[in-house]
Amino acid sequence: MAYSKKHSFLRISTLLMVLHFSSAKAAIKGGYWYSDSGLAVSDINPSYFTHLFCAFADLDPNSNQVTISSAHAASFSTFTQTIQAKSSSVKTLLSIGGGGGSALAAQFAKMASQASSRKSFIDSSIKLARDNNFNGLDLDWEYPSSNTDMTNFGSLIKEWRAAVAAEASSSGKPALLLSAAVGGSDQITPLQYYPGQDIANNLDWVNVMTYDLFTSDGYPTTTQPPAPLKNPTGQFSVDEGITKWIGLGVPKSKLALGLPFYGYKWSLSDPNIHGLFSKANQGLGAVKYKDIKNAGPQIVYNSTYVTNYGFKGTDWYGYDDTQSISAKVSYAKQNGLFGYFSWHIEQDSNWALSQVASQAWGT
Ligand SMILES: *[C@@H]1O[C@H](CO)[C@@H](O)[C@H](O)[C@H]1NC(C)=O
Repeated sequence: MAYSKKHSFLRISTLLMVLHFSSAKAAIKGGYWYSDSGLAVSDINPSYFTHLFCAFADLDPNSNQVTISSAHAASFSTFTQTIQAKSSSVKTLLSIGGGGGSALAAQFAKMASQASSRKSFIDSSIKLARDNNFNGLDLDWEYPSSNTDMTNFGSLIKEWRAAVAAEASSSGKPALLLSAAVGGSDQITPLQYYPGQDIANNLDWVNVMTYDLFTSDGYPTTTQPPAPLKNPTGQFSVDEGITKWIGLGVPKSKLALGLPFYGYKWSLSDPNIHGLFSKANQGLGAVKYKDIKNAGPQIVYNSTYVTNYGFKGTDWYGYDDTQSISAKVSYAKQNGLFGYFSWHIEQDSNWALSQVASQAWGT
């Protein structure tokens, strides 16, 4: 009796340890594959990822159904099997929408405004995910922009969750994962209107787009850290956005921190004055990480802002290199976030940033 009691106690505590251990391990090391980037799916190295997002499926504004363009049909339909043949544990999600500007945002707003069009979106998305073997769906509505939009966003994800659960019980398959890419700073879009409770209750997690805070388009006359983790002199930073998301009531364990695999270029007014916030003649737009590396600038890491920058002649680049990527991922881990994701993986240079991010998170 005494023995068997002890025995079952041990079994229960072992079980609790296993449960605790497995919940502690759940994490996202995510990356978006952008179909127009030119990177073949077969050239993706999935070993640095737990989740890969296939971007983007489209919203048909007439039918409110989710569709895959004919140009992308072949690569999207084989995406999951190509990835999972190499890394069977990697989950794939079909991303819908993207940064298509205000016209696309308006189409999402219209779709979300009526129960019947939400149903068209939801039912078609689930069918498309299953027909193409994805493990989940990712909503990239950039951005809901009014209180009405946000209420409708809440209705959409609530009904989406219910439909996904119903489909799982009727098909007997694991439920599709549901995520959304959301604003990463008040600098980009007001965060306080997002329906935090609906998100907490109905999405598996959100990808917080903590980048593009200080771009060379927005600030053409001063060099900037485009996505600083900290900002001692200003309001906006990665930390600002993440802190606001926690304040909305979304559990930390449902927040993935966004890592930009690109930076912004400026032309310096004086090549000898090349620190952060130096005077610039003009902004020269976004540049891929691999193109910055190939240009061969002198690289500096600034730990106050947690950013890298590089300069060569009058060319100046604000961006994330291995040091700032590693520091951001450590921040995500130390703060108990779900993990991180990158936009987008083709811009990496021989998987250097993907690898350093994965190592900084650990296992
Ligand atoms: C980062 O850059 C700012 C602005 O130039 C500067 O004040 C600060 O000292 C730098 N931090 C480090 C650690 O060099």
